[in-house]
Amino acid sequence: MSANRDQWGSRLGFVLAASGSAVGLGNLWKFPYITYHNGGGGFVLIYLGCIALIGMPIMLAEILIGRRAQASPVPAFEKLAQKVPGQKKWGMVGWLGVAAGVTILSFYSVIAGWSLSSFLQCMDWSINGYEAPAPDDFGNFLGNGPLQLGLTLVFSTLTAIIVMRGISGGIEKATKILMPVLLAILLFLVGNSFTLEGAGEALSFLFTPDFSHIKFVAVLEALGHAFFTLSLGMGAMITYGSYMGKKDSILKAGGAIVVLDTLIALFACIIMFSIIFSYQEIRESVSGSTVGMLFITVPKMFYTKMALGAILGPVFYILVAFAALSSTISLLEVVVSLLVDKMEMSRAKATLLSASGIFVVSILCALSLGANDFLSGFKVFGHSESGFFAALNDRIFPEKAGILNLLDHLAANWLLPIGGFCITIFVGWFMKTEDLVDELDLRDENGQPNIWFTIFHFCLRYIAPVAIGAIIVAVLMGWKDFA
Ligand code: TRP
Repeated sequence: MSANRDQWGSRLGFVLAASGSAVGLGNLWKFPYITYHNGGGGFVLIYLGCIALIGMPIMLAEILIGRRAQASPVPAFEKLAQKVPGQKKWGMVGWLGVAAGVTILSFYSVIAGWSLSSFLQCMDWSINGYEAPAPDDFGNFLGNGPLQLGLTLVFSTLTAIIVMRGISGGIEKATKILMPVLLAILLFLVGNSFTLEGAGEALSFLFTPDFSHIKFVAVLEALGHAFFTLSLGMGAMITYGSYMGKKDSILKAGGAIVVLDTLIALFACIIMFSIIFSYQEIRESVSGSTVGMLFITVPKMFYTKMALGAILGPVFYILVAFAALSSTISLLEVVVSLLVDKMEMSRAKATLLSASGIFVVSILCALSLGANDFLSGFKVFGHSESGFFAALNDRIFPEKAGILNLLDHLAANWLLPIGGFCITIFVGWFMKTEDLVDELDLRDENGQPNIWFTIFHFCLRYIAPVAIGAIIVAVLMGWKDFA
């Protein structure tokens, strides 16, 4: 199997495709909105801690598993676990990842669809002149069922077409061009947002650590988001790593992905918060729908505060769509590569089958934003106000209603951290230290594991699993305040 597996054309190709997977709606849509929701600086600091101490080691661990096994997650675990207690049962971690992938992809395609609609809206503004949207415009947009379904369908189809074409041909080529352009535009927007009067307030909101409002569920949210934004915990990086050549450095590639992803998330916050704090009416419409922040705030800057805004507006949303696309591709690829490697299906058949199955769940998500009352108000365990189930509901899905929200919360805050926990245990405790040092190529002059390896191994064996475990236990126990 390994002889004729597709491989990345170059090391840069892997780094860009993997950063394409990491950088997406998580950075541009989700991180600013949950940061705003959780009160800014304190949350950001916890998030950065999760990235450095948990995200980075798990990033290396996932790439390492994939490259060593040269297989997608389920067979990769089965192959590497041959001499490990539990043996083939470790394949279940791969299956859990597939479940997480299906869950994420189904709601992600809906949000990604919004970028297409924002693109069209901006085109209209650029051609016919800007007209400030009314406060409830976004709510009406969310409640428009047929429109939501249509946008989702377009986006899901695009994803399926690219995945069907394979790794080096489709995914790698597109991200090579689009990622640098996205970064350049974001930098330009960051520069521009410093000229807004709200910039100072935005920076202090973002970087002044204030833990007074932080609850344990927010810590779980920061942890879950660290997994989500880095595409960890479900085998996406295992899958991408499996197409990586033996000579490339996992440490350099992983480090570049983590740094790039974190920078882009912070840039997105600086841009959006500067706009929010500059306009009273934006502040009001955003507090009604933080979910729509990316789509409500940014146009304001393009069309009122920027010379080139009429050109950059549509271009920006095209890039958001591409950032989302390079992420949905990686999500679908995990499911498809499993069907190809494990069930020996053809790539085309596997893609069609999984994409249409996931689209069925997407339909429920797309209609859960107001179009359908049942789906929009849906809560797990029903609506019981008190008793055991209500308490459980509050802990596992606090303040979450509607299918889209629930699936997002379920995947990011539960499935990914649990998957990540299993990965730390497997690599940290069950894989041979020698093998890890070899894969990571972290030896000093005497051939001994060097200091970087020691730090990596310590984080992976102790810090990451203990922190993930402690946060999950704290939330399940109903502990509330953090500070
Ligand atoms: N990381 C992507 C984002 O930030 C989303 C994503 C793509 C993802 N592939 C994933 C999340 C795999 C978890 C697992 O938008």
